[in-house]
Amino acid sequence: MSFQIIGTGRAHPEFVLNNDMLSQIVDTSNEWIVARTGINTRYVSTHETITELSVKAANNALSKAGIGAKDLDLILCATMKGDYACPSLACLVQKEIGADCPAVDLNAACSGFLYALDQADAYIASGKVETVLIIGAELMTRHLDWTDRSTCVLFGDGAGAVVVKKGHGLKSIKITAKGDDELLVIGNTFCPSPYGKQLKLDPHFRMKGGEVFKFAVTSVLHDVKDVMKRAGVEVKDVKMLIPHQANQRVFQVAKEKLGFSDEQLAMGIDHYGNTSSASIPLLLDELIEEGKLKPGDIIVMSAFGGGLTTGACVIEL
Ligand code: ACO
Repeated sequence: MSFQIIGTGRAHPEFVLNNDMLSQIVDTSNEWIVARTGINTRYVSTHETITELSVKAANNALSKAGIGAKDLDLILCATMKGDYACPSLACLVQKEIGADCPAVDLNAACSGFLYALDQADAYIASGKVETVLIIGAELMTRHLDWTDRSTCVLFGDGAGAVVVKKGHGLKSIKITAKGDDELLVIGNTFCPSPYGKQLKLDPHFRMKGGEVFKFAVTSVLHDVKDVMKRAGVEVKDVKMLIPHQANQRVFQVAKEKLGFSDEQLAMGIDHYGNTSSASIPLLLDELIEEGKLKPGDIIVMSAFGGGLTTGACVIEL
């Protein structure tokens, strides 16, 4: 297939929020959060904007790729909400890094990074572009109801980036969607109009956790098997499975049912929480920086989230 990853980068806010701090504002405990989710700490923006984090991650990825911003043919930002509805996050990144290529946001919630990889694949395969910057960025803590213990303990903020270039690293990729406005919802807010009623939606993140849990396990199992089959790889060929970091129990179940070992399972939820579309690229960059992933390694990435959406792929680094 069409591309090779040539650089990765990441950025997160400075402030670290631990479970004990959360137990001071809602009726929860470190023990409950660790046991039910695997999260110990998460980064929370106190002043950093999503644009700042995205630019930092992008510059980091460009520098590791050894190319300049002017070498980019396209910028794709996977996010549910940039700092502005307009201009897009991608356009602000383009301005700040000094690129001059087209730039656009896409929203597939937590599967956004996989959706963006899929779009990059299509653009590169068509011959329209050769080099694409892809960013997954989310300030999830902007969307939380801090009185709702069932959701405010789950999320963190961050941005991850990859630069992909025409090549043969991508072995297979798939994305799916199943429209649903019941299980996982964040409402938009609108300005009042003198001419009619505007929708009044709850702007907080709301989730039916148990049902999303079942959807997550089922989709990861199905998608991972599917992309591995299409790529012609077996569990023993895979260096690491990098699942969307939503809940440690989701991917422990998936790991066991798919037959991966503990060493093959990438884990970042303990210190990032759920950072939505940023979770996979954040962790990918960390694993590469720590030397746990090297050129030639085969990785499987799998995401699921609001929409409902899913995505998975097999890539040789
Ligand atoms: N601290 C203490 N108790 C809590 C907390 C908390 N933070 N949150 C919920 N509880 C309580 C509940 O009130 C409930 O109490 P009750 O039995 O007295 O009613 C009990 O714990 C069990 O609640 P459940 O919701 O059944 O807990 P569960 O084990 O399902 O864990 C969780 C909840 C962590 C949300 C889990 O369902 C989950 O992770 N689901 C999947 C989420 C996911 O993968 N999301 C991905 C998409 S996110 C995106 O796209 C942006």
